[in-house]
Amino acid sequence: MKSVLRVNGGQPLVGEITVRGAKNFVSKAMVASLLGTSPSVMRNVPEINDVQIVAGLLQLHGVAVSWDQAAGVLSMDPTNVDLAGAGEIEAHAGSSRIPILLCGPLLHRLGEAYIPDLGGCRIGDRPINYHLDILRKFGAEVEKYTDRGIQLSAPNGLVGTKYELNYPSVGATEQLLLTAVLAEGKTELRNAAIEPEIMDLIAVLQKMGALISVDTDRVIRIEGVEQLQGFNHTALSDRIESASWGAAALATGGEVMVRGATQPEMMTFLNTFRKVGGDFDITDDGIRFVHPGGKLRSIVLETDVHPGFMTDWQQPLVVALTQAEGLSIVHETVYENRFGFTSALRKMGAHIQVYRECLGGTPCRFGQRNFYHSAAISGPTPLTAADIAVPDLRGGFSHLIAALTAQGTSNVQGIKIINRGYENFLGKLEALGADVEMVEP
Ligand code: EPU
Repeated sequence: MKSVLRVNGGQPLVGEITVRGAKNFVSKAMVASLLGTSPSVMRNVPEINDVQIVAGLLQLHGVAVSWDQAAGVLSMDPTNVDLAGAGEIEAHAGSSRIPILLCGPLLHRLGEAYIPDLGGCRIGDRPINYHLDILRKFGAEVEKYTDRGIQLSAPNGLVGTKYELNYPSVGATEQLLLTAVLAEGKTELRNAAIEPEIMDLIAVLQKMGALISVDTDRVIRIEGVEQLQGFNHTALSDRIESASWGAAALATGGEVMVRGATQPEMMTFLNTFRKVGGDFDITDDGIRFVHPGGKLRSIVLETDVHPGFMTDWQQPLVVALTQAEGLSIVHETVYENRFGFTSALRKMGAHIQVYRECLGGTPCRFGQRNFYHSAAISGPTPLTAADIAVPDLRGGFSHLIAALTAQGTSNVQGIKIINRGYENFLGKLEALGADVEMVEP
């Protein structure tokens, strides 16, 4: 089976590609469809594995799903929602992080839920303490928690609550929203995550009939309603994929027009892109990312929750920073273990040192602990081809960018992971003139 991507690098990526809906929104809105009493329709849905995985989970629970992949239209009819068999659920263990978000909706619909143990990228410990704590505060009981699945019930229904997050977790905020909208009475969440994907989820829930208000100080208030209907919604664009192609244009010295990319959600990335020396042109159709020639500049960067620089933008940009003049510093404050991908870059000739210390001023939870969460990148260093293995989704895309930047032929293993979040990435690479080919290992 052809599972290795052979990349003949050293050519700038030049051309146009299209980015559709955000993976980290579409999968959550699909879960929201479980809350409605009528069918939901979502548009601008990308053809990625994570959508397939969540569609499979919904189907296991009796949701009728139809997906026109070319048109990007997904229809979900939750009329016959039912419990799934334990064996079928357990077969999904380790596949994704989305199943935990099914808890609230299933508890509302069925009074109980059994969900598979979680997967997702290994970029840190990724605990679910906030999720379970929130569900318990609403009145759910966690009955069994094994490495195959988590059993919950809500014998007395779910009742609104007050909760303050220690850290503005995206998933925990979504957990609370998906549970509060049908819970009895009022719910208040303090220190909520306010990522654009969460705002789009709130828009979906409002279309369904929910009452949600968002204050300027990370406080979200929800008044539970008795019933929600289906929604009809066009997903916001994937700002992580857009930035990944932008970083690829910069690292390879090319020019990539990303149709579908939108400015408001990408302002922080665009500022950084400009500081590094990249150019961009924003049109009604998308954003053109350009390496204008000349030298790239080193920067100091810290990842943070929205409106900060996204952790998921970090890995692709670091590859471009290997081509910048001087010393760049990157402090990762969202995940404790998101520099694993740099070992492959070092193998390819990059000068990157990782540190346990906080190299930045943003308060971070990892400073006094044993985590390599800061990096110093000195450049520019020519990259040379290597045989590398993809560690996770974003790190994997960075490896791809590095292989495209490097002179010579690289072999990239484990490339399938990238299908989880990048639609038709091979077709897009070819459209941008990359010399790539799937080969036998
Ligand atoms: N955290 C806890 N306890 C919890 C939940 C989270 O300590 O119960 C911690 C995490 O360990 C992490 C931090 O809080 O250090 C932030 O995690 P968050 O919950 O915000 O992340 P997530 O919901 O698991 C989503 C995206 C990630 C993205 C982050 C941050 C999805 C499916 N995943 O993860 O995307 O990096 O938000 O924006 O939406 C990716 O797309 O490749 C990806 C990893």
